[in-house]
Amino acid sequence: MRYASITDRLANLGSEKWAIHAEARRMKAEGQTIIELTIGEPDVPPDPTLLAEAVRTMHAGRYRYSNGRGEPSVVDALVRKYQKRRNDVTAANVLCFPGTQTALFAVMLGLVETGDAVLVGDPLYATYEGVIRSTGAERIAVPLRPENGFHMKAADLEAAITPACRVLLLNTPHNPTGAVLSAAEIAEIGAVCRKHDLWIVCDEVYEQLVFGATFASPFDNPDLAERTIVVSSISKSHAAPGFRSGWAIGPADFCTRLLSVSETMLFGGQPFIADMTAYALDNPIATAATMRQSYKARAARFAEALSLAPGLVPLPPEAGMFIVVDVSETGMSGEDFAWALLREELVAVMPGSSFGDEAEGFIRLSLTVPDAHIDEACRRITALATRSTMPKERRA
Ligand SMILES: Cc1ncc(COP(=O)(O)O)c(C=O)c1O
Repeated sequence: MRYASITDRLANLGSEKWAIHAEARRMKAEGQTIIELTIGEPDVPPDPTLLAEAVRTMHAGRYRYSNGRGEPSVVDALVRKYQKRRNDVTAANVLCFPGTQTALFAVMLGLVETGDAVLVGDPLYATYEGVIRSTGAERIAVPLRPENGFHMKAADLEAAITPACRVLLLNTPHNPTGAVLSAAEIAEIGAVCRKHDLWIVCDEVYEQLVFGATFASPFDNPDLAERTIVVSSISKSHAAPGFRSGWAIGPADFCTRLLSVSETMLFGGQPFIADMTAYALDNPIATAATMRQSYKARAARFAEALSLAPGLVPLPPEAGMFIVVDVSETGMSGEDFAWALLREELVAVMPGSSFGDEAEGFIRLSLTVPDAHIDEACRRITALATRSTMPKERRA
């Protein structure tokens, strides 16, 4: 039988990136005790009032068909949220989706196709490659350099641009590096995007988890408003990834055009999830503040312990739920280090190579585990680093 080319373009994109995580889960199922630092699922539950609101509104009959833009309850709450950032926002700028991931997929489908190119920082979040490839467009990497704290530089963006480029896919706060772009950096990046007439799709799913910088967005810059589309969700801010509740906020013309894509794809989300999301956005809920505090402390804990280990350079994040560690001084690649760590020390981490070429010498550790696990993980990571780090005089 014949298949459409999208299945080839997306084939094997995911599996090898998650090979260490999958192997760790297999070893766990066999009964081995693994310290798992691979994925970043919030380790706190959503606030109980969110669950109560979802149940209440479901019992009140909010389980019928919705519409492609979103239920008025959540659209209005999003207008209130984004009006605090830019006072010209109305319902015409809002489209709801089941999570940032679906929003990214639909938005990209509305902006690019075969023959086009999308610029994206490298390292990058693991699903971006698929999001871009699914449209038929090509990905062009903009290096995010460790010496710049993984912040995208306008000059690196400018150097990567080709005539096929239509979109810059920006991610701030950034996964996996935790980098948060400043308003000044965004203005410089935005000037390049204006010069080359690029859309800016900005994934801000970690907006509420900034602890070491000040959040800024191209959406808040009036010079960039006509070309910026923000995608986000309550997955991280409210520790509610399984509810699949997200959105895209962009220019009214864009939203009108994308509405038919959204209607074709979904014909609307679940009204009771919409009401719960509106409640989450409108009420002061402490989940994000709690996570900010613990992720900041855990990042510092990892950084302090691992900076003492031979061959390791932790790079503390400004936001998010991860810390990356440069392992290149051990003489091993991030991938080899991560496999050795799993096999020899029963600690599962993500190799940097899962996030792009620029991160090959790194590993990524999740901050979503308790302190006792962090301390034990650091002891084991240090043991491996000590065994593997070649004395400097033996290195080429
Ligand atoms: C950068 C980034 N974007 C998007 C997502 C997916 O978010 P959602 O649950 O809203 O689909 C994640 C999840 O880890 C992420 O790290």
